[in-house]
Amino acid sequence: MNIYLIGPMGSGKSTLGEKAAKVLGMEYCDMDRLVEAQAGMSISVQFERFGEAWFRDRESEAVRTVARRKNVLAATGGGVVLREANMEVLRKSGVILFIDRPLAAILADIDLSGRPLAEGSEKLTEIYNRRLPLYRKYAGYTIKNDGAKAEGVQTLIQFITEIKEKYDDTGTKA
Ligand code: S3P
Repeated sequence: MNIYLIGPMGSGKSTLGEKAAKVLGMEYCDMDRLVEAQAGMSISVQFERFGEAWFRDRESEAVRTVARRKNVLAATGGGVVLREANMEVLRKSGVILFIDRPLAAILADIDLSGRPLAEGSEKLTEIYNRRLPLYRKYAGYTIKNDGAKAEGVQTLIQFITEIKEKYDDTGTKA
């Protein structure tokens, strides 16, 4: 069964996901890196040369790629929720977890490099507020990540362990 982490840029999807996957013996997938590998260029270059819509098509391809794999813990890109079709593919192939980090904490430590949409704290705030209802809508479960990283990793590991006990291998509730 796959686990998909959704949430805004800087919410900790990749940081927490990579560490938790190791402990849980799951394959970790950073979807931004998968998009870059499949397109053969960085996300910044994709935005610059072809625009956001083109990038979103590549992102949807990556969603379909990862959904075909098994036992994957994937950190999605913050904008994956913009397309309902993406979320349908994810929901059918796994469990969706919203990594809920307060905006103030995100703004305090986000690295803006390589994130073409995050031009500054004002833009980030606007995107955060606009998308929050979408993260809530698509969240199968929500995990608060409002403290230290190590704490967030522990919470995530515990959560996934419990979820795995509840679901069979196809992601259907046992
Ligand atoms: C985006 C988030 C990024 C990346 C791209 C667009 C977004 O991923 O997919 O820059 O629209 O929120 P992270 O959430 O991993 O930063």
